[in-house]
Amino acid sequence: MRKTIIIASAVVLALGCTENRPDAFVDSLIGKMTLEEKIGQLNQIVTTSGDITGPLEGSLSTYEAIKKGWCGSILGVRNPDEIQRLQHLAVDSSRLGIPILFGHDIIHGCRTIFPENIGISCTWDMEAVKKFARVSATEAAAFGVAWTFSPMCDVCADARWGRVSEGSGEDTYLSARVAEAMVRGYQGEDLRADSTILACVKHFAAYGAPEAGRDYNTVDMSWPMFRDKYLPVYKAAIDAGAGSVMSSFNDFEGIPVTANRKLLHDVLRDSLAFGGFVVSDWNAVKELIRHGVAADEKEAALLAFKAGLNMDMVAGAYLRNLGAFVSEGLISEKDIDAAVRPVLQAKYDLGLFDDPFRYGGKADRMYRQGSLESAREVARKSMVLLTDKAGILPLKESSRIALIGPFADDKKEMVGAWGAMAEPERCVTFLEGLKEEFPHVSYSEGCAPRKEIPGGIADAVSLARRSDVVLLTLGLPSSESGEAASLTSISIPDCQKKLLRAVSATGKPVVILLVTGRPMDLSEEKELSDAILVTWHPGTMAGPALADLISGEFSPSGRLSMSFPENVGQLPIRYNQKRTGRPKPSESTTSKYCSRYVDAPNKPLFVFGSGLSYTDFSYSNLRIENPAVKAGEDVVVKIDVTNTGSVVAEETVQLYVKDDVASRTRPERELKAFEKVLLNAGETSTVELRVKYQDLAFFTARGKWEVESGDFTVFVGHDSDASLSGAFSVLPENR
Ligand code: NOJ
Repeated sequence: MRKTIIIASAVVLALGCTENRPDAFVDSLIGKMTLEEKIGQLNQIVTTSGDITGPLEGSLSTYEAIKKGWCGSILGVRNPDEIQRLQHLAVDSSRLGIPILFGHDIIHGCRTIFPENIGISCTWDMEAVKKFARVSATEAAAFGVAWTFSPMCDVCADARWGRVSEGSGEDTYLSARVAEAMVRGYQGEDLRADSTILACVKHFAAYGAPEAGRDYNTVDMSWPMFRDKYLPVYKAAIDAGAGSVMSSFNDFEGIPVTANRKLLHDVLRDSLAFGGFVVSDWNAVKELIRHGVAADEKEAALLAFKAGLNMDMVAGAYLRNLGAFVSEGLISEKDIDAAVRPVLQAKYDLGLFDDPFRYGGKADRMYRQGSLESAREVARKSMVLLTDKAGILPLKESSRIALIGPFADDKKEMVGAWGAMAEPERCVTFLEGLKEEFPHVSYSEGCAPRKEIPGGIADAVSLARRSDVVLLTLGLPSSESGEAASLTSISIPDCQKKLLRAVSATGKPVVILLVTGRPMDLSEEKELSDAILVTWHPGTMAGPALADLISGEFSPSGRLSMSFPENVGQLPIRYNQKRTGRPKPSESTTSKYCSRYVDAPNKPLFVFGSGLSYTDFSYSNLRIENPAVKAGEDVVVKIDVTNTGSVVAEETVQLYVKDDVASRTRPERELKAFEKVLLNAGETSTVELRVKYQDLAFFTARGKWEVESGDFTVFVGHDSDASLSGAFSVLPENR
């Protein structure tokens, strides 16, 4: 401890940091730095092995780079002791002792793993989201990580894209609320406070719309589409105070974002007033060459720097080229100062100049009881009950349960796509969790995720016959979720379908537990089962969270944040699609010349916002308190919601708005407010929902982000099919 204090004061003294005003401190530090040291701060290096020993390209060892002050940030260190060692090296051995900013992908938990983010968004519970981010930050900080590359703010309506698991689904409004809650959870009120970490808004921008759902593929979208559906989520996270942004791999309007000044400067700095720093994605500066917009590394570095990219992740292109650009007069040292300022500012804000060792060294903060409880709560709330035909759930304690399938007792499969720091052995499987609640649970693997196993199906069938009910885990492994995991089929793999058919033929009731990081085609599964519960990849507390629901201790409350399509051919599919001149009059229509498929309905199998509980809710008495809305005024809507069943349960009351006539084509309807309410059996509650005036704005035909006066329809109810409606008008500005 004493050593740390001495070292920390040494940094402050060495840097002459007696200045209280952060900007003055940073300016005075910049004044002391050589050009090389400044460029070093714009360089992020990587280790994925745990210990950094490998050379940087150009034969400079990492060790040497740190000593020379050529390394502003390191990502990927998985060993807490190594973080401390490298920080010591930077502080003790580099000329100015500037601390390193250690970053990592803490995406859905650090040690205590939460469900994949798509599941987290299905809670529709912003307090729960914030709690998850708090726990992640606490553990990351305890580990030594001061910067997470999260939240992912990429809206996506295409389940082929593997990274839908990392986002919050197809809807802009819900994704924006989740993103801001995550930023607040990570960063807290003050980055200097204990256990807070820097958030990174990614992947800016439009990364969630790759053509054909293929990761890293080209993106081509209209500017109004970008402004209306994609930009608001990044904006919400930035408005919540996120200190950094990651540029995306894709191109936008034909210019890779890494070199896209319109996005990185005009939109981010000018329109969104973002004051933090922008880091590239992995090696993306050099990828400008393969994109075909730069002939060589030098040109790539110049394009990225001029576009407004502050930090180069992994490529080393800034380190090798920026100095020469200054000598050649292509950029000035002042430009470098401007780029380095927000990086140093972030380190200052995090308190690293006061104490470079404030992160790390607190192993006792992992897996705290409260953190495990939060992980259990979030996992439970993330699970979505899609069907329950005859009310088979919850199960009686005396039920003889056959737990079958490839994900039933696999700790590793509970982790999900991002688990760099995860310890799979700490995950509680479905089998372990259910055994705590039910005395008669037996298990059979049945098959592997994509392979039959000898005797597997016969064993599963025999177990099903000896049981009262089958809980059948089906789905996709973690490796088929997340980055570089795009699929052209979102069906349940053949071997698992075979298992389902065999088990279902026994005539025993079958409840499918769907383990997945993306929406899937469940058309056959819906027919062959009695109930379907989407569990996602639920994280460390998978088993207890599942048992909470199966036992009836809690009623399911998750609601889909992405539509589950009828089949892959419907993709991309979103409830908030735009209106056309030839809408389909009804799902049953056979009329040919309207916007429809000949071989499938337009509607998904399970709509956005849907999800059942162990009770039913009825809605009545919708009223709009101010049907003539003045400029700047929120729309206040009230509705009575009744729990008509026999158990206490949580309902997510959803409000959608349709802009009846506008200067551009508008969506059929859009989510604009939601509230969660806990109701006892038979209880009625009046729920108030407020639509913010600014949330009625869109990118109009005048090329402005504004609210147009005129008539709007409001729908309130259980999901995006809500039919109870009302109307309001927005008055012209001068009335
Ligand atoms: C590439 C991914 O696209 C990004 O999300 C991640 O943060 C970086 N790699 C760093 O691991």
